[in-house]
Formats: sequence, structure tokens, C-alpha cells
Amino acid sequence: MKSQSSDYAIDLHDVRKIYRGKIHALRDIQMQVHPGEIFGLLGPNGAGKSTLVKIMMTVVRPNRAHGTILGKSIGHKRTLARVGYLPEHHRLPSYLTGQQVLEFYAALAHVPGGVRKKRSRELLKTMGMDDWGNKKVSSYSKGMMQRIGLAQALMNDPDLIVLDEPTDGVDPVGRRDIRDVLLELREMGKTIFLNSHLLSELEMVCDRVAILVQGEVATQGTLDDLTRESQRYEIIIAGTAPSWIETKSGLRAETLDDDRCKVIIMGADPQPIQTVLDQLRQENRIILSVQPVRETLEDLFMRAITDPATGEISSPGASPNSNRKSKGVRA
Ligand SMILES: Nc1ncnc2c1ncn2[C@@H]1O[C@H](COP(=O)(O)OP(=O)(O)OP(=O)(O)O)[C@@H](O)[C@H]1O
Ligand SMILES: [Mg+2]
Repeated sequence: MKSQSSDYAIDLHDVRKIYRGKIHALRDIQMQVHPGEIFGLLGPNGAGKSTLVKIMMTVVRPNRAHGTILGKSIGHKRTLARVGYLPEHHRLPSYLTGQQVLEFYAALAHVPGGVRKKRSRELLKTMGMDDWGNKKVSSYSKGMMQRIGLAQALMNDPDLIVLDEPTDGVDPVGRRDIRDVLLELREMGKTIFLNSHLLSELEMVCDRVAILVQGEVATQGTLDDLTRESQRYEIIIAGTAPSWIETKSGLRAETLDDDRCKVIIMGADPQPIQTVLDQLRQENRIILSVQPVRETLEDLFMRAITDPATGEISSPGASPNSNRKSKGVRA
């Protein structure tokens, strides 16, 4: 791994991982994360998300990896002291209480002895676990374990926080709590990199996302950038579609049922819809609704994992030998 420097919090080039000589888990990944942003990595099961995280955390050895984390080459051990990590499927010592677990992690993170208790109590409170601090981990639910896991990832007051499925098994209230914590951390200037399957949740917090499909980055960027082409306005009107709609470029109409139709105006610019609305009003059309519409993260995700030629959805896992072609949504 050659030495490099970068202004990105995470700047990955040509990261490749082949397990057991045949499973192509990652194929030449290029990925950039800006300082102070929440970056979401999504992809189907087996796409390679955890492998990428483990390579960054030096848990898995890559076949090839160039790039930097917090300005230092991947694998620079001292830099990892500035990183908080919540692994996938983590296990906590079940015979300890939540407070004891956090004090243990505080010792590992070289938090001075005098403040370990206090810092652990604060983090229990942040994660809504203050009433459970003195109970044994063996009595915790999956979501509680996850909250403690997230608390330990914050123990060293990291600049970069890497979370592999942080809301796995957490109930809706807990998920909202975690979301709030992530937003607070961003306010504090921290960079957050997270893997998740919960698309609507990522949509709520992420500044930028990347979609990984069979070990390749299918697309990455801000949601705005990635959905720009699909941005449009939809006007629902009573009755059938006016004949002039189809004659104008950027306009089309769809019949919804016997009584209503939808007029679609492509683009994010609200100006063209004013003329359309004026024309519809002149014809005394009843306007039922006007709505700006754009693809959701789920639409984007489904498009990224669907082969445009066959309409097939990418199956879980990295195929040992296939040379996957890009799905045509690269940003
Ligand atoms: N230790 C390993 N040995 C062999 N193959 C592995 C190993 N770890 C992962 N793989 C394979 O590498 C590919 C990527 O796995 P990875 O766990 O990185 O995916 P993921 O995107 O995190 O999936 P999930 O959403 O299910 O967590 C899969 O095909 C998986 O079977
Ligand atoms: Mg995973």
C-alpha cells in the first residue's frame, strides 16, 4: 500500500478483495467521503459492504488497496485511534454490565482511568441506556446490544465513525434516537460512514451515498445529483388529457382512471409548469394536485441492482467468476 495524502476523510482507489482465490468480493473500488458528512453505503446482501469496512479497519487484508483514511494510508495503525468502529454482528461479554463493557472499551481506547466511569455513563445516557447500565449484557435485547455497540464506537471521541448496520435489530424509536445521535455528531464536525439496508433511513440522514452491487460501485453522489434526471412535476387534473400536452416537448400525460389524468413536466425548474397551469385554467380544467416528484433512494437502489437488458435483479453474494457489467447509473 503506497503512501498518499488527501483532503477527503476517506479516499479509496483500486480496492480489491478476492476471498479464497475465487470470490470477487470487491472489484477496484473508488470511493470518496468528504470530511464532516454522513456517507451511506448500501447494496444487496453479499455486495461487499462489510468487506470494504473491514479493509478500512484493517480486519481483512485486501488483495490491493490504495488510498487514505483521515489523510493517512489505509492500514496506518495510529490513525485508527481517531476512528470509532461498530462491526457487523458484534458480540459483547455477556457476564458484564453495560457500564462495565463501556469501561472496558474505555480502557482499550486509552481513556484516562479517572474519567472512564463518567464517560461511560454519559454514553449510556446518549444512547438511552442509562436505566440499563447496571444490568448484565446477557439480559439485553438485540437493539440494546446495538446501542451499547454504538456507544463503544464513540468512546475515543473519534473524528471518523464507521458503522456497519448500526440500526440492525433496533426498534423505530431506537432508530430515531440513533439518527438524532448521528445528526448531532455531524453537527460536531465528525465524519460518519455507515452501511445500512434501511433505505428510507439513509435517505433521511445521508449527505451522499454509494450503491455497491456485486463488489462494484454502481453509483455514488448526493441524492440530488443522483436523482436529478428523474426530477419532474406532476399535475393531476379531472377529466381526460388535453390533446396539446403530447405536442409539447418535456410534457406527457397518463390516464389514471375514467375521471382523472396526470400531466408530467420533466425537470426541476418550476417555471414551465406555470404556463401549463395557466393553459389548464384557461380551459377551466379542475386541478386536483400539483406535486414535485423525484426518485427515492429505493427507486435508485432498485435501478442499480436491476440489469437493464434482462430486467433481472442482482442475486445475493458475489459470483465467483462473473464479470459484472455496470448497470449504467454511475454518477
Ligand atoms: N471470510 C470470508 N470468506 C469467504 N468469503 C467471504 C468472507 N466474507 C465475506 N465473503 C463473501 O464476500 C462477499 C461480500 O460479503 P460481505 O459480507 O462483504 O457483504 P455485505 O455487503 O456486507 O453483505 P450483507 O448485507 O449481507 O451484510 C459475499 O459473497 C460473501 O459471501
Ligand atoms: Mg455486511
